[in-house]
Amino acid sequence: MLGARGGWRALRRCASLPRAVRLRVREALGAREPADAVRVQGWVRSVRSQKEVLFLHINDGSSLESLQVVADPSLEKRDLTFGSAVEVQGKLVKSPHRMQNMELQAETIRVVGPCDIWSFPLKMKERHPLEYVRQFPHLRCRNNTLGALLRIRSEATAGIHSFFQDNGYVHIHTPIITSNDCEGAGELFHIETPREAKESAEKTHFFDVPAFLTVSGQLHLEVMAGAFTHVFTFGPTFRAENSQSRRHLAEFYMVEAELSFTESLQDIMQVMEDLFKTVTSTILSKCPQDVELFHKYIAPAQKGRLEQILKHKFMIISYSEAVEILKQAPQTFTFKPEWGCDLQTEHEKYLVKHCGEVPVFVVNYPYDLKPFYMRDNEDGPQHTVAAVDLLVPGVGELCGGSLREERLPFLESRLQRLGLTDTYQWYLDLRKFGSVPHGGFGMGFERYLQYILGVDNIKDVIPFPRFSHSCLL
Ligand code: 4AD
Ligand code: MG
Repeated sequence: MLGARGGWRALRRCASLPRAVRLRVREALGAREPADAVRVQGWVRSVRSQKEVLFLHINDGSSLESLQVVADPSLEKRDLTFGSAVEVQGKLVKSPHRMQNMELQAETIRVVGPCDIWSFPLKMKERHPLEYVRQFPHLRCRNNTLGALLRIRSEATAGIHSFFQDNGYVHIHTPIITSNDCEGAGELFHIETPREAKESAEKTHFFDVPAFLTVSGQLHLEVMAGAFTHVFTFGPTFRAENSQSRRHLAEFYMVEAELSFTESLQDIMQVMEDLFKTVTSTILSKCPQDVELFHKYIAPAQKGRLEQILKHKFMIISYSEAVEILKQAPQTFTFKPEWGCDLQTEHEKYLVKHCGEVPVFVVNYPYDLKPFYMRDNEDGPQHTVAAVDLLVPGVGELCGGSLREERLPFLESRLQRLGLTDTYQWYLDLRKFGSVPHGGFGMGFERYLQYILGVDNIKDVIPFPRFSHSCLL
């Protein structure tokens, strides 16, 4: 693989090396032909010095696999350590190793940024547990698992945009700062300037009205659904939930879609299922190595389960059926299942298990449990709305959606009972001017990643965990 030491020295004596073509590690690894003058930049993942040869592995975030660099030991320097940033120039050649296609025969190695390996919390060749790297949010992206996660996150983001664009949806940037509490659950982060905080007088509101970080872009999407039949948004949402669970974040991303001229929940569920299956297939085919890392070390058997799920239709049960299943369960729950009560995590888990550990749509929830915008099913005595939640194994609720109440009198009387008529005059307007049956849903992006990768803690699927959790652990 390497010439004798003398060969390397001769190479280095060619004082003016040609300006080399800069290649990303991924490009170098996938190259079909050798190349004479190549430059690769990245961070050292391993250094192994032998008598005759120096081996490095360099990673630049473009792939899970690192590029092997082989060099004359004379190129070794004191600051060429694990974690240091380097620029290597040399020849890209076929690798004699069965496991890799190409390797770089170094002619020069420049240490761009040294790394003090004694204080650097990541160690060479160690498989650090997720809990360990969570302590170093500013450094954990240099670890293989987080690197893989972030590449998958990036592909999934692109996949979601492509899915909607390919199906004729218009992307809308809905506001982050808003005055509405779409879900009506009061889980809002209030925005105020330092002056407002001090004076706490109503007239000092920066925006004239109280302002919050959005909990959902739905109501703004509904505005757009009055002019575009298919719209979607994909942005950050915020919830001040007092929850320390493994599936709640204070700041998370939500994908939301709204479809006009839609009278059936079935249509909404079809889009949810298509979105899930299309994006998952894209990720499995575009990032096989990154996904495999999770399916090998973090959630064994998840790959097979996902492949099965992609082949079958998701199940559908009604909320009333769900309650009956729970009532007949051989186990006792902390929260006794009763018609009219919310499904708790323990209930969602049981339902999914009962259905064979597959995604399950639960439809038609009690009227009194759900937000004001959901369409009245006008049934009884058990009064329901046209709502749907998609439950998935290990995570629970992945998507929430509904048909929207498009009928002015129904909406007016519901808002009046809630004392929200003034607040939502503009929303009532939408029902006065060309109102059509419509519906939509939101999918939690982090919960989606958690599910397909089999990650237990939602904090391990976000780039920065510090202020993302409700309780700032
Ligand atoms: O069910 P939710 O509250 O629905 C809405 O906000 C609707 N307005 C969406 C719509 O119809 N356009 O939230 C949607 C999804 C949930 O199913 C869940 O996956 C995720 O958002 N989610 C959270 N993810 C992480 N941390 C939290 N605190 C979350 N709260 C909701
Ligand atoms: Mg919900």
